[in-house]
Amino acid sequence: MIRWISAVIGAGIVAVLGWSLLWTIVGVAGDSSAKTWTGAPASAEHYVHAQRPLLNAELPSEGLFGKYDLRQLQRGFQVYKEVCAACHSIRLVAFRDLKQLGYDDGQVKAIAQGWQIEQPSVNPDTGEVATRKNLPSDHFPLVFANDVAARAANNNAVPPDLSLMTKARHEGPDYVYSLVGHGYVNQPADLLAKFPDAKTPKGLHYNQYFANLNIAMPPPLTQDGQVQYLDGTKPTVDQMAKDVAAFLTWTAEPNLDTRHGAGFAVLGFLLVFCFLAYGAYQNVWRNMKH
Ligand code: HEC
Repeated sequence: MIRWISAVIGAGIVAVLGWSLLWTIVGVAGDSSAKTWTGAPASAEHYVHAQRPLLNAELPSEGLFGKYDLRQLQRGFQVYKEVCAACHSIRLVAFRDLKQLGYDDGQVKAIAQGWQIEQPSVNPDTGEVATRKNLPSDHFPLVFANDVAARAANNNAVPPDLSLMTKARHEGPDYVYSLVGHGYVNQPADLLAKFPDAKTPKGLHYNQYFANLNIAMPPPLTQDGQVQYLDGTKPTVDQMAKDVAAFLTWTAEPNLDTRHGAGFAVLGFLLVFCFLAYGAYQNVWRNMKH
């Protein structure tokens, strides 16, 4: 009886595993986002998917053993602060989180105090709406009060919050790197010849990595040396794009280092546990005839 019950349970488990394997295969095979864009015809031919061998940010955080390079994260933060923060918020990050990048308490406090946009607050005496300086415990403030204000300032487009951007796009870090570092090119002549209506409308900018090819964001990184790095790294457009992509990878996953470390610790533990289990098995069956 017991035998039959366990056989049925076993068959059930195998069926569930087989079913999920089947759907994984179907899902991977049908992942159209991994191929090319299938939107408007002009985009279909000229959109370049930020795919690995094509353009690769080569961040040290990639791969199984990947770890953040703190100096690179600090440089990326500097690019974010001096360039992107004019339009984009990172509202899920708190100033004190910057300690993970190697800044000490004093530096974090100074960054918070000196941040251009202040925190909204209410004057406790009068009830009047006011602002106050940022504290290390505050999250980075929003750049615009709401979407209406954001649209008004950006040609009717809302600059999205960047905290999770590298998770929200396929090949996120490479995408950000390619989009701001190598995406703004002249509109190819053969595209215009073939699709005369596809001319980039006024106020938008042609970007070969943006899905519909015309982005409302003006090129943010326009020349080498736009940011002065303190660690002697040469601030080329490529380097700044790479560094800001690294920084936005961190904002989306600040605990990547711990996660990678924990994986190997668990594997090590399981390995030791295997030997222990084998030893116990030998011990228990020691006096039995096989
Ligand atoms: C002048 C304002 C401005 C600046 C400065 C700016 N952006 Fe943007 N950004 C925008 C706007 C507006 C959009 C929305 C574009 C759209 O939807 O067409 C956008 C969109 C984006 C997107 C999302 C694209 C997508 O796939 O939806 C990313 C990523 C991005 N910006 C990264 C950056 C980075 C990194 C920097 C700094 C190096 C930066 N931006 C600086 C205005 C700006």
